[in-house]
Amino acid sequence: MTTSRTRISKAVIPAAGLGTRFLPATKATPKEMLPVVDKPAIQYVVEEAVTAGLSDVLMVTGRNKRPLEDHFDRNYELEQVLRDKGDGTKLARVEESSDLATMHYVRQGDPRGLGHAVLCAAPHVGDQPFAVLLGDDLIDPRDPLLARMTQIQEQHGGSVIALMEVDPASIHLYGCAAAAPTGEDDVVKVSDLMEKPSADEAPSNLAIIGRYVLDPAVFEVLRKTQPGRGGEIQLTDALQALASDPSLGGPVHGVVFRGRRYDTGDRGDYLRAIVRLACEREDLGPDFRDWLRSYVSEEM
Ligand code: UTP
Repeated sequence: MTTSRTRISKAVIPAAGLGTRFLPATKATPKEMLPVVDKPAIQYVVEEAVTAGLSDVLMVTGRNKRPLEDHFDRNYELEQVLRDKGDGTKLARVEESSDLATMHYVRQGDPRGLGHAVLCAAPHVGDQPFAVLLGDDLIDPRDPLLARMTQIQEQHGGSVIALMEVDPASIHLYGCAAAAPTGEDDVVKVSDLMEKPSADEAPSNLAIIGRYVLDPAVFEVLRKTQPGRGGEIQLTDALQALASDPSLGGPVHGVVFRGRRYDTGDRGDYLRAIVRLACEREDLGPDFRDWLRSYVSEEM
């Protein structure tokens, strides 16, 4: 795995949501542990952080946190069994997840919203800019986004959010940005943000997706942020405060992502992610594509 160097070294991964869209699978298991082919979704996210040079990872966990911690920890018993069997390939796969990054955990007592989850990271993060990666948002490893965001943060200071152009009819599912162009095709200056606006009130079709590089000033703003939509402390509301008053923590820029992204917290997108990634795998892809072709032709 190649690693680029950046000033930003800490990543925060909120994974304390209830995952109600995936019940009953998420009754006793965090949704971030659901497998995408043969790795839990969260491992792709940690790998993405490490590839962008962020090897200090703080995971914000809630109830059912054990599987998340265990996945990134050593499993000596299993490792020994595989070693005794001489199964080096599987042993390497097991060891990979525990060697990936320096993992830290903090507990979010009650799931009081994404903004509250980010605030739980304040003591660990300190006063440096840091990245936030949502545990159920999967960015295709071939379309690097985070490294571009850290680059923009280093150029302009302040905070950087990831945006994606969506069909205006589905903007009500996302946070939405009012933004002005900059000299760079994939970078905009954000002036306002709205959480899940209707198509009529949405200032653009630029939807916020689950990657952020934040100035630590966001913590002070979050402490003052009242519960918003759904009674939760919304990260978008705090970012809106930062965007409308750059004296608080610098400007807010947006990187417009045009690559492949899957919301693995959504059942349809989760299935699409598995099919796509399985098709592209060298080991599984050829057989799976053949099967899929004949399945689709029988069904159509
Ligand atoms: P979602 O909006 O997807 O909510 O959270 P959710 O509870 O996880 O899932 P559904 O909608 O009930 O199915 C976005 C991200 O923020 C984290 C989630 O774990 C997810 O990565 N989150 C959300 C927290 O860590 N804490 C919270 O209080 C809320």
